[in-house]
Amino acid sequence: MNKIKGVILAGGLGKRLEPLTRITNKHLLPVFCKPMIYYPIQTLVQAGIKDILIVTGGEMAGEFLRLLGNGAEFGLRHINYTYQRGEGGIADALKLAEHFAAGSKIVVVLGDNLIGASIAPYVAKFAKQKKGARVLLKQVNNPGRFGVVEFRGQRVVSIEEKPRKPKSNFIVTGIYMYDRKVFEIIKRLVPSARGELEITDVNNAYLKRGELYFDKLNCWWTDCGTFDSLLAANNLVAKYPKEKKCIF
Ligand code: DAU
Repeated sequence: MNKIKGVILAGGLGKRLEPLTRITNKHLLPVFCKPMIYYPIQTLVQAGIKDILIVTGGEMAGEFLRLLGNGAEFGLRHINYTYQRGEGGIADALKLAEHFAAGSKIVVVLGDNLIGASIAPYVAKFAKQKKGARVLLKQVNNPGRFGVVEFRGQRVVSIEEKPRKPKSNFIVTGIYMYDRKVFEIIKRLVPSARGELEITDVNNAYLKRGELYFDKLNCWWTDCGTFDSLLAANNLVAKYPKEKKCIF
């Protein structure tokens, strides 16, 4: 079987963090001692994934190359880069990875997602999966601003993007694992009411086929898309350094 490849999505305009993002890309902002983009790269590398594509966009795209180069700091020999025009959504950014994936399974990490433990055990389960997708769920206090899972017993029966009335407090984190079918699924998507190709629609397409698997996280996880979550990310990284068995 082909090796699993990694994709980091670091496009978008980060409008919720204005004016921090007026003159730079969200993923270049600091989270405690490192630029945000370092964390998703470490997440993939620590799971043994070394063939990595970064999708970025906006006016600061060149700064990623200047910051990361070929990834020597992460023990990489090369990093692949591609450019998303505009802000067409997470699935629109992922579409650009088709050529890179070239039929391999992929692990996708949103560029603003930080997790307090290795994802290696989940990637190992995904590697054994004959087909389909795998998502990582996390229980949160404010599910309404995420993709929210509805359970029937132990089964996931739907995922709703930013619902007014969340059906549980389990959300889909921005760490997604997909087989090669993901690109066919994306081609059939239509933009949502907010004009984006939604990753939640991709996950629901797998769910409909009976091919969406999941794990529940019990380590810390956060995004950095709002001032509150960016602050939380800084505090989490500062509080749980490597020596306390967390990876950052
Ligand atoms: O963090 C997990 C959540 O991420 C999920 O629970 C949601 O289902 C999912 O839609 C997403 O929600 P957000 O509203 O937080 O996504 P946001 O627009 O902030 O985008 C997250 C990352 O995706 C961003 O840091 C960069 C990348 N992205 C986003 C867009 C809209 C792109 O690369 N291109 C884009 O056009």
